[in-house]
Amino acid sequence: MNKADYINAVEKLNLYAKHYYVLDDPITTDEVYDKLYHEVVEYELHNSDEVLSSSPTQRVGDVISEGFTKEAHLSRMWSLEDIFDSEGLEKWLTKTYKLDANVTFYCEPKYDGASLNLIYENGKLTKGITRGDGSVGELITQNVKTIQSIPLEIAHKERIEIRGEVVIFKDEFEKINHARLNAGEAVFANPRNAAAGSLRQLDSSITASRNLVFLPYGVGENSLEFKLLHQLMEYIYELGFRRPPERAVCQGYEEIESIYKQMVQDRDHYAMMLDGMVVKVDQIAAQIDMGYTVKVPRFSVAYKFPAVEKITTIKEIILQVGRTGAVTPVALVEPTDIDGVVVERATLHNFDEIERKDIRLGDKVIILRSGDVIPKIIKVLTHERSGEELPYIRPVNCPVCSSELLDEGALLKCQNLTCDARVVNSIIYFASKPCLNIDGLGIKIVEQLFSNGLVSSVIDLFSLTLEKLLELEGFKEKKAQNLLDALNAAKGCDYWRFINALGIEHIGEVASKTLSERFGFAFVNATKDELLECDGIGEEMAESVLEFVRVNADTISTLEGLLEPKEPLKREEAEDNAFKEKTVVLTGTMSRSRGEIKEMLESLGAKVSGSVSKKTDFLIYGEDAGSKYDKAESLGVTTLTEEQMQEMLA
Ligand code: IVH
Repeated sequence: MNKADYINAVEKLNLYAKHYYVLDDPITTDEVYDKLYHEVVEYELHNSDEVLSSSPTQRVGDVISEGFTKEAHLSRMWSLEDIFDSEGLEKWLTKTYKLDANVTFYCEPKYDGASLNLIYENGKLTKGITRGDGSVGELITQNVKTIQSIPLEIAHKERIEIRGEVVIFKDEFEKINHARLNAGEAVFANPRNAAAGSLRQLDSSITASRNLVFLPYGVGENSLEFKLLHQLMEYIYELGFRRPPERAVCQGYEEIESIYKQMVQDRDHYAMMLDGMVVKVDQIAAQIDMGYTVKVPRFSVAYKFPAVEKITTIKEIILQVGRTGAVTPVALVEPTDIDGVVVERATLHNFDEIERKDIRLGDKVIILRSGDVIPKIIKVLTHERSGEELPYIRPVNCPVCSSELLDEGALLKCQNLTCDARVVNSIIYFASKPCLNIDGLGIKIVEQLFSNGLVSSVIDLFSLTLEKLLELEGFKEKKAQNLLDALNAAKGCDYWRFINALGIEHIGEVASKTLSERFGFAFVNATKDELLECDGIGEEMAESVLEFVRVNADTISTLEGLLEPKEPLKREEAEDNAFKEKTVVLTGTMSRSRGEIKEMLESLGAKVSGSVSKKTDFLIYGEDAGSKYDKAESLGVTTLTEEQMQEMLA
């Protein structure tokens, strides 16, 4: 790096920081920022007479923005030094042991959200302040009071600052973005931006609607007398704050490394996004002795996880046609390793979203891959355009059958019922887990059966024979027989599976169960009024059922003959038990899969629903229960552990 590069890097970092902190709209990844930041630090180390006063290294905290009243923290909110690998950890430990050779450590997740300072006086929450520049933040008390996991009163009566991170759980984030897409609004880039943006709303009712969660990680001003941090934190949790999903007291390099590795491995399973693990000296007296550098505490460090956001380039946009004819655009990107997985495709949501983001072929973009969700494009780096990028033109014809597409704005639809893509995908859907759950009938095999002319509808599946299958490439006796057995095993399926497998538009697993329980075999004769009386069935769904039954009466009865589904047990016919005819919601990790517990409860006549409402009778929770638990508590819904559920059944 020469002087010109340095000046350029400082300008870039300041631009990145403004987009990140002030506009809630980052234009690069943390990884790119950190790398450039470290290059700047390195340059300044060797050229101390050239350090620019505008350099981000000269800034003690982030920027504060206009809009809310400014409020000073009682004591400063620090940031953390980052380390990225075991070498970094070793160096940090060496430095720390030099200051005090007898310390132990407390490790907890580093949550990826927005930091918040809470001031309690006389046991009452009096102020909520964003981090701001570390000394002064924005007063957002009204918004903070809408967060269910923040107690408004605590048993501790002396003045105390409680610090933590405000996050949005991953499932909640997906829901918010889904709703925003449906409403034609721009989606949030990631849970962190969604959390920060939701916290700083001028209208608190918007904040309240976002299901934010507060996770405490420390205290500021306080009069506590604990000797060890982990005891202090236990006290904070006891006051009514959420516990971290994982924490550990440990000694030295080996133990810290092993907890770190475990946390990296588990990161996808946590409800919230984590971007690292924080290691803190456990002895509070030693913390005080060690003190702070200009920017960060010496007694703590952030051991970062591999990045889940990466910059790549869009090579092409391809189209996928689903079983309902909906055409979805998918971006093919320059293959990029994200946390150990090579990503080559990313979802673009829908056509409006391409236009809203102005995504062009050849654009540099930020992609996010977290957990097992499909990678998404969260940002176009328009400031990096060369001018060669090509705008995307909406297709007018189906990429598979060439028939003209119906343009519904966000969605394009192929209306040709015999379009190969629609047929193949409906067969795949028919065989999938929430439908007939036919083992061995996945995408590849269905495509092979279809392209060889063995099946052209779901009905044909039941005329497959050993001879026909053995003609196919890769099919030996055993594989062919297994497939026939699996098809045979679908006979006598639950009736709701049968309804679901039909693939009626807008009718998914939950609605299929409702229809099956309410009407049984007579669902084909249900009138519109009867349909509308069902819980959760609205106008659009009712119309869809009626239309489907009208057009496909023959197919339905043929399939019924082939599959001989079981007439469903009506809820009121179940034997008496505590859950009969009750609405139950499951959340968190339990000893068995939630699917199994759900089936068990349904067989007892319970209705298992996906979301908590006033109508919910019981919430049964396992480990790492998330926002559903908070919601149930706030609505006064009875919450049960898995053991308590078993006891009620015994
Ligand atoms: S401790 C005295 N612990 O990360 C040290 N910070 O990069 C103060 N963060 O501003 C921070 N999880 O907003 C700490 N378990 C955790 C954290 C955490 C997330 C955030 C926090 C802080 C930033 C520093």
